[in-house]
Amino acid sequence: MTSELAPLDREDSFYVAGHRGLAGGAIWRHLEASGFTNLVGQTSSELDLRDRDAVFAFFEAVRPRHVVMAAARVGGILANSTRPVDFLSDNVRIQVNVLDAAHRYGVDRLLLLGSSCIYPKFAEQPIKESSLLTGELEPTNDAYAIAKITGVMHVQAMRRQHGHHWVSAMPTNLYGPGDNFDTDSSHVLAALIRRFDDAVRAGTSTVTNWGTGSPRREFLHVDDLASAVLHLLENYDEPSPINIGTGKDLTIRELSDLVAEVAGYRGTVEWDDNKPDGTPRKLLDVSRLEELGWRPDVELRPGVEQAYAWYAAHRDSARH
Ligand SMILES: NC(=O)c1ccc[n+]([C@@H]2O[C@H](COP(=O)([O-])OP(=O)(O)OC[C@H]3O[C@@H](n4cnc5c(N)ncnc54)[C@H](OP(=O)(O)O)[C@@H]3O)[C@@H](O)[C@H]2O)c1
Repeated sequence: MTSELAPLDREDSFYVAGHRGLAGGAIWRHLEASGFTNLVGQTSSELDLRDRDAVFAFFEAVRPRHVVMAAARVGGILANSTRPVDFLSDNVRIQVNVLDAAHRYGVDRLLLLGSSCIYPKFAEQPIKESSLLTGELEPTNDAYAIAKITGVMHVQAMRRQHGHHWVSAMPTNLYGPGDNFDTDSSHVLAALIRRFDDAVRAGTSTVTNWGTGSPRREFLHVDDLASAVLHLLENYDEPSPINIGTGKDLTIRELSDLVAEVAGYRGTVEWDDNKPDGTPRKLLDVSRLEELGWRPDVELRPGVEQAYAWYAAHRDSARH
């Protein structure tokens, strides 16, 4: 699977789409730390990637040699299930515009970030890349998943029809600096950080979490995601999407205990089992990534300590 790719030239222009987001921000920092001197980023207000003409004008002016696609309309279960059109339409347009412009202006290496929600709801665990399109999707975010699957197909089609060395990668649940702590749209780890931090600061003695706490989930620090992305750009050249994760999971109850401890919360934790648990286990099979010589660096406890410290230092400016 290791291919004959040359290392990327650190002076090449490199566009990180979504460079202010959780994933894109970490990728930007990692590229900078790895010596890339010509990084390009645009906020969504400077360049709305849904606007095809604007995207083509940007590519014509900047001519990026490499692209990481970390821009997407991302949301939690509530937003996904109530506004599926937005998630489908925006993400398909963002991807089609960027990939078409990248083709027109001769982008060399491109990596599209997808998500593990592209895999079937009842995929065998741990989830192998080969389970893509073998079963029905989780209905609460199927519109988002279909948009992302379209992106994977678009990358594959670009390879087949135009010979591009582009790839797509599917990260597991991410966490770290720059996360979204909004109570309606955050993912579980950021939600726990905020909930326990709020409780400690308010002196609350009971915190209630959703569900039973029994589902098992996997978490990857964004710094590890970023190093995996660069590793893949320099070492992976196959049409199949490739999973990015740790290969380890834990129960939500164990995760809650860890975050409570890190936040210094000493009250009780209750579980509202009227709220849905979701799928019992979601763990990616990362053997293909491991075969390429990549391993995560950040263990969960220090990673959570660092994410909590970041949140504590950015309570006012973090996304709420
Ligand atoms: N978070 C996770 O746990 C997770 C897990 C697996 C996969 N992923 C994947 O990773 C990718 C990035 O997710 P994330 O968590 O980093 O999301 P995020 O923090 O919400 O960042 C998304 C970025 O996309 C940009 N964006 C959104 N709409 C745009 C538009 N119309 N035009 C230009 N830019 C636009 C935003 O730019 P502005 O800030 O300038 O508005 C933002 O920086 C997604 O493909 C997602 O599926 C995330």
